Amino acid sequence: FAAVDVIRAKRDGGALSDEQIRWVVDAYTRGEVAEEQMAALAMAVFLRGMDARETATWTGAMIDSGSRLSLRVDRPTVDKHSTGGVGDKITLPLAPLVASCGAAVPQLSGRGLGHTGGTLDKLESIPGWRAALSVGEITAQLNSVGAVICAATSGLAPADRKLYALRDVTGTVESVPLIASSIMSKKIAEGSAGLVLDVKTGSGAFMKSREQALELARTLVEIGSAHGVATTALLTDMNTPLGSAVGNAVEVAEAVEVLQGGGPADVVELTVALAREMLALADISVDPARVLASGEAYETWCRMITAQGGDPAAPLPQPGHVTVFAAPSSGYLSALDAYAVGVAAWRLGAGRARKEDPVQHAAGVRCLAKPGDRVVAGEPLLELHTDTPDAVPAALEALSDAVQITDTPPEPGNLILHRTD
Ligand code: URA
Repeated sequence: FAAVDVIRAKRDGGALSDEQIRWVVDAYTRGEVAEEQMAALAMAVFLRGMDARETATWTGAMIDSGSRLSLRVDRPTVDKHSTGGVGDKITLPLAPLVASCGAAVPQLSGRGLGHTGGTLDKLESIPGWRAALSVGEITAQLNSVGAVICAATSGLAPADRKLYALRDVTGTVESVPLIASSIMSKKIAEGSAGLVLDVKTGSGAFMKSREQALELARTLVEIGSAHGVATTALLTDMNTPLGSAVGNAVEVAEAVEVLQGGGPADVVELTVALAREMLALADISVDPARVLASGEAYETWCRMITAQGGDPAAPLPQPGHVTVFAAPSSGYLSALDAYAVGVAAWRLGAGRARKEDPVQHAAGVRCLAKPGDRVVAGEPLLELHTDTPDAVPAALEALSDAVQITDTPPEPGNLILHRTD
């Protein structure tokens, strides 16, 4: 094959053959197809799309660019992936909850970039906790505790790492077949038998429109089935932050509240709903709501954190500086925009501008009211946490249109919008 022929075929709207796809992904990973050629092909795919067969083959080629994790675990393995949101700390209570119900949860996670947070950044606010585990350590912990949240090992889907960096700088990230194959290559290579996807839609999500998010959900489930991984997807609302806490240590604290039987209702609802989906895939008939209430999931959390060097009883980092954002008028909070709150938390130091930047563990936003609540002019609505008070004006600017207050209460919306299987 010649790369230019593959590019021309897709540019002109044709379907690529399985052989062309396997060749081009492999040759690109080995450096034999140039970056500018892959950039042109990614743009052709962005504009022309790929059908279900092409997308499944593309995903398989990215999996085959590296090694698959082979987990020797004596319970059914099942994992969850979220397409990314604001205040989305669900992995933290979910992994120990599902493990307490009898499954093994190998949750290989990422760091935040942009306005969405990363699970590893959140957990690293726990003193001593370690994200990098060897395959042997992952397997041992899955057998002893049942849940692992750790960094992806470097051998998983190296083609995706290279291609994602290229897409990031060539305007080709927001393509359903490219996003879906990127997510699924990493998750399938991880070797879990079942996978539940939490596909976000709304201002704080990658996919702003519901139609696009549904198409992504369908494509993810199709790829899973094509590769023999039992996959279901929930489409969930991301127009307002999940829970009250957005940041790193503040989100860990909120996850612990949920594990101890409290916490915000939306975080509890989504945690239990995703746990039910995961347990159904693992063929385990245990009620996760009962296990959450019993405190068993909290015990598993403590063992999971301890196994990775963390001290679950240690105090979490506190911010050096807190600014209160007051309600501008009285009435009902009818909107609190997820994207704006995510950007504010990012600017306060919870996220990073460049991949290599550190994050501030204590930075973030606490939302003191949720849409539908009554608020009073001048009373605190948000708390901005940071160690770098110079960042506060930029965070306040991000929040300038974030809040809507009305005289009548908003229509209550659903958090879980659709299920795809
Ligand atoms: N997350 C991924 O892992 N890949 C994408 O392409 C987009 C979001």
